[in-house]
Amino acid sequence: MNSIHTKHIEALTKANQEIAAKQEQIKNSRYRLNYHFMAPTGWINDPNGLVFYNGEYHLFYQFYPYASSWGPMHWGHAKSTDLVNWKHMPVALAPSESYDAGEGVPGYGCFSGSAVVNNDELVLIYTGHVDGKTPMQVQNIATSTDGVNFEKFENNPVIDNFPEHATHDFRDPKVWQYEDKWYMVVGTKKDGKGKAVLYVSEDLKNWEYKGVAAESNGTQGDMWECPDLFPINDRHVLLVSPMYGTQNEKPFYVIGDMDYDKGVFTQDVYKTLDYGSDFYAPQTLIDDKGRRIMIGWMEKWLTKMPSQEYGWAGAMTIARELVLEGDIMKQKPVDELEELRTGYKQLDAFEFTEIKTINDQQESVSEVIIDVNVNDTNASKFGIQLRCSKDGEERTEIMVDFENKEIVMDRERSGVGEKGTSKAPFVVKENGTLNLRIFMDTTSLELFVNGGEQVITNRIFPDETSKRFNLVSQGGKVSINTLESWKLNSIWK
Ligand code: FRU
Repeated sequence: MNSIHTKHIEALTKANQEIAAKQEQIKNSRYRLNYHFMAPTGWINDPNGLVFYNGEYHLFYQFYPYASSWGPMHWGHAKSTDLVNWKHMPVALAPSESYDAGEGVPGYGCFSGSAVVNNDELVLIYTGHVDGKTPMQVQNIATSTDGVNFEKFENNPVIDNFPEHATHDFRDPKVWQYEDKWYMVVGTKKDGKGKAVLYVSEDLKNWEYKGVAAESNGTQGDMWECPDLFPINDRHVLLVSPMYGTQNEKPFYVIGDMDYDKGVFTQDVYKTLDYGSDFYAPQTLIDDKGRRIMIGWMEKWLTKMPSQEYGWAGAMTIARELVLEGDIMKQKPVDELEELRTGYKQLDAFEFTEIKTINDQQESVSEVIIDVNVNDTNASKFGIQLRCSKDGEERTEIMVDFENKEIVMDRERSGVGEKGTSKAPFVVKENGTLNLRIFMDTTSLELFVNGGEQVITNRIFPDETSKRFNLVSQGGKVSINTLESWKLNSIWK
């Protein structure tokens, strides 16, 4: 066995032992979610290496098993047959080599990246990061024939330095196949602009630099993290998690066109991907049904994470299918999530003014769909209050402002987590309705407006007893066509 392999196996064994020792305790710890993906213990951030391989979905993720805060990055691993139920797998990558591990430096590890299937092999492409090293970030690969055990390539790094249009922040390779070649975008920055630089390869090992595929127009951030560029319908879409200075901002998407000969993506339509505060570093895969599926990290850098006190932090969003309709890319929770539904309740058309309590003891793990008849509504605002305490002091409010055509998710009174509001614009549907679909988990809310035209994702940390569910109106009556709700089963029990 060569030495790369031995050192890697030692690091993986240690990480897997840590998980085995802690996972039972963490499983029952406070704030655990019921149907969202979480690591068995410790810290997670970005989803990595999303891929459909041999009939199963694989999710890798930025992982630090030894503490509930960020540390030397490993790649955790899980798989699924339905994008809903996940099975934890042994850790896939651990820092072990000069290009992804360091001694006495604050940060290093196997940073974000992607996965592709090449013949029968599963190939991971990731950034090796070592603080203070020159160059600080290089691109590497690791391969597996069984989808469980990964070997780092002996001639890593496959890209050992940043190109002329980049700087030492040069990370998060996303690889895809187009016609008969492999393409890779890598996130970087130079001259105050975030960029995605492009490489091409025939074998995933030898990469030729093509140039800048896309860059900030001056307002789209000075560093681009986790770029993902993919074909959809007859166009291409670019996802970017932008930084402005040291601040990570809301990921955006750009609809445009890709010229593979020139290696240039032309930006056409630019939009916010998710208006919430707890959504970052999303990545996509394409499955055997041709669906483009996205999962994001359901938390963000430098925010309050109350679960850290209980030994863990971070989760993934539900899987969302991306559907491009003209100038809008919708996010549709994957159909498979309907498997979780139980205890159906429905209210037919009704009207109300001021306040209407729908349920005093609403399941805190549930799905709610409200179809609002905007034509018959004369209120200026319509609100949904969730996770309210009996005295109403604690609550999370989703407020639809009909005059300003804005939906606001307000976390000022949501409990112990981060406060503040998230705002998204909306357009009333042609038939005069507004459709709101809410996925609630113990400590999260994901709101899909009009079939996923806009999405707001936030973590909330209310008291377990805060369960009242009210509708409120301001300045008139609200007319509801239907209100449906389901309790959602846990995937972890
Ligand atoms: C994004 C990110 C990536 C990096 C990783 C490190 O959240 O900063 O750019 O590869 O996290 O864990």
